[in-house]
Order: sequence, then C-alpha cells, then structure tokens
Amino acid sequence: MAIRGYVFDAYGTLFDVHSVVEAGRAFTADPLALSVLWRQKQLEYTWLRSLMGRYEDFWAVTEAALRYSVKRLGLPASDADLARLMDAYNRLACFPEVPEALVRLAGRPRAILSNGAPQMLAAAVTSSGLGDALEHVISVDRVKVYKPAPAVYALGPTTLGLPAGDLLFVSSNAWDVAGAKAFGYRVAWCNRLGAPEEELGLRADAVVTRLTELP
Ligand code: 2OP
Repeated sequence: MAIRGYVFDAYGTLFDVHSVVEAGRAFTADPLALSVLWRQKQLEYTWLRSLMGRYEDFWAVTEAALRYSVKRLGLPASDADLARLMDAYNRLACFPEVPEALVRLAGRPRAILSNGAPQMLAAAVTSSGLGDALEHVISVDRVKVYKPAPAVYALGPTTLGLPAGDLLFVSSNAWDVAGAKAFGYRVAWCNRLGAPEEELGLRADAVVTRLTELP
C-alpha cells in the first residue's frame, strides 16, 4: 500500500542537538557528558510526568533536566550559563541531508510530530530553514501528554486526515519508533548511530542511516 504522508520526529531526527554540546563547552571540560545526561534526564522527565499526569511543556522539562544535570555533574553553572544552553535549543541546525530528503519527499504532506513546545519547534524550524519543506508542525502540547502516549500519535492522522497505516513515521529514537508502531503507523527508523534495536517487541518496517535513503 502506498505511503500517503510523512510524520517526522524532531530532536535527533531532523534537528541535530549536538550544537547544544558546543554551548556546554564554555564551562565544562566534558560537554558530551553533560549533553548525554541532559538528554536522558529530559526524556525521563517526559515519561514520568506523563505517567503521573503532571504535564509541563518541553521547555520547562528541558530546563529542569538541565538544572539536575549541572548539579549531578557538579558544574559551576550561573543562570546566564543555563540560559545560554537553553538558547541553543532555539538555534538548532538540521542534519546535513535533511533539506534534500524533505524536498525529494514533496508532493505528499510532511509533518513534524514532536515533544517540543510550539515556540521551541517554531524556532528550530526557522533556524534550520525547513519552513518551506513542512506542511505541518505538531506539538504534543495540544494533548498535554508526551510520547509514546497513543494520544500523541493520534495527532498525525487527525492533522493530515489520513489513517496511520497510510503514513510513514520517521524517528531516530528507537523508543519513539516502538510507540509509533504500536499506534499503527508504518515506521522507518533512522538509526544514525548504529544503535541496537530496543527489546520492546515492536520493529520498524524499514531502517535507514540517513533520511535521503527514504525516497
Ligand atoms: C521529539 O522530538 C523528544 O525527539 C523527541 O519528540
């Protein structure tokens, strides 16, 4: 059955959060350790807040995860340092192959479906120059719960007016791949880092290493 639309995860899939590491270089000798702990804690907080029914938007959760991470790593971070790191989220670059991949997929609706707060996604779409290559930008903020809650994935079919089975969901995050597959999408995993599959009993329909392989 033909694919009639595309739904993309944002952070790690379209946008490279590595630039956030660079911002951390200013005050830690190990910016990668900060970036890895920060990303893991950010996701943990989305899952915990979703299970507790205590939603805060992704900007607030990302800021809370950063405050935890600098304390956990014993880093002397001023409020100005934290603001500079947070600001990096509003200036993300996209991975090099993304513009070409999105242009080659033109003709069918292309959407972002992300945990990102609306203003975060708007800033990242603008800073990466992807605005003309996306028909929809969808934030979980509409349903006040995070991935992998089914209510989030339901926003794709609702917004595009197409059944999940006719849509290709694309993510670099293997746990997000499992959530989209559980909901009923066709799924492509962009395994940029050569990670092993998650052991969640749900497999992607296709695995690529760059989005330009999708067409
Ligand atoms: C997203 O963009 C957090 O990567 C995840 O929804």
